[in-house]
Amino acid sequence: MIGATGYLAPVADDIALVGERLRGLSMGHHPLLGDTLAYVFQTTGKQIRPALVMLSGKLGRYDRDRLVTLAASLEVIHTATLVHDDSVDEALTRRGLATINAVWDPTVAILLGDFLFAQSAALASELNSVRIMALLSQTVMAMSSGELQQYASSKARLVDEDDYLQRIAGKTASLFAMCCEGAAVVSGQSETHIDALRRYGTNLGMAFQIADDVLDFVGEESRLGKPAGNDLRHGTITLPVILWAQSLPGGDPLLADLQTGENLETVIAAVRASGAPDEGLARAAEYADEARRALDLFPAGVAKDSLIDLADVVIRRRS
Ligand code: IPE
Ligand code: IPE
Ligand code: MG
Ligand code: MG
Repeated sequence: MIGATGYLAPVADDIALVGERLRGLSMGHHPLLGDTLAYVFQTTGKQIRPALVMLSGKLGRYDRDRLVTLAASLEVIHTATLVHDDSVDEALTRRGLATINAVWDPTVAILLGDFLFAQSAALASELNSVRIMALLSQTVMAMSSGELQQYASSKARLVDEDDYLQRIAGKTASLFAMCCEGAAVVSGQSETHIDALRRYGTNLGMAFQIADDVLDFVGEESRLGKPAGNDLRHGTITLPVILWAQSLPGGDPLLADLQTGENLETVIAAVRASGAPDEGLARAAEYADEARRALDLFPAGVAKDSLIDLADVVIRRRS
């Protein structure tokens, strides 16, 4: 799952400490809370967000303990959003395991997600930094706003590229940006470097979510460890659909199906067979290029190389 891709290599030992922090969180609670916490932290995902924190920290004064705390806090936010997202999306698998809403139920998923948001703030507060707490709360607000915008857009069946870009900036890129910016703050970097890392994270996050939305059409469920083809079935109109719709003549009956929600399986097959998934990946590659360019002011080194590598990994990934 990880390691072979290389971006974790320079920080692997410290990321293992993040995993230990997360698994420690399930101790000393009511059995339902303890069991569900142990359940969500028994596996790790690709650990991109902790990697972003530790690698960005390596570009400044590396304080391992503080960076591990920040990485744990942000991976807990990520986990909270996944638990809520799987309940909203009615997804039954995540990281190859049954979701909380599947093993328990959506109520447990909502309540566990809420606990995790508070837990992430508690971890971040150990850093004694109002700036980090402000960033963290703005990030969670941006993520929630992006998710709500996505819900509104799906109800309205909005096929609008600007709307799409705005909602993925909120729901996904904001957390990537926070990982990089927060680590730059914690490692005492200059405002110019903090800003550069924020731009790197934002653009990387955009590339990552576009690739995720392409994978929902062309990826293999067994590799993804989560359902494929689910987005449009749930009414979420992502970039591949938008690009496909833009390529059709105005009166195409499939466009009417997209609006009414009928024949969605035919629409999904048409999107898959079109050039839109590749075109989407080309858009993701543009964001990845922009991310790489934001790193220009940093001196060469292992951490910078890994961040550059990550910009490739997020668009080439299969899981
Ligand atoms: C999934 O993120 C949610 C999205 C933003 C698409 P990841 O694909 O990073 O999830 P894990 O942590 O590797 O499972
Ligand atoms: C990302 O969107 C969700 C969050 C940012 C929480 P998706 O709905 O595409 O994520 P997956 O595909 O379920 O991982
Ligand atoms: Mg989802
Ligand atoms: Mg997805």
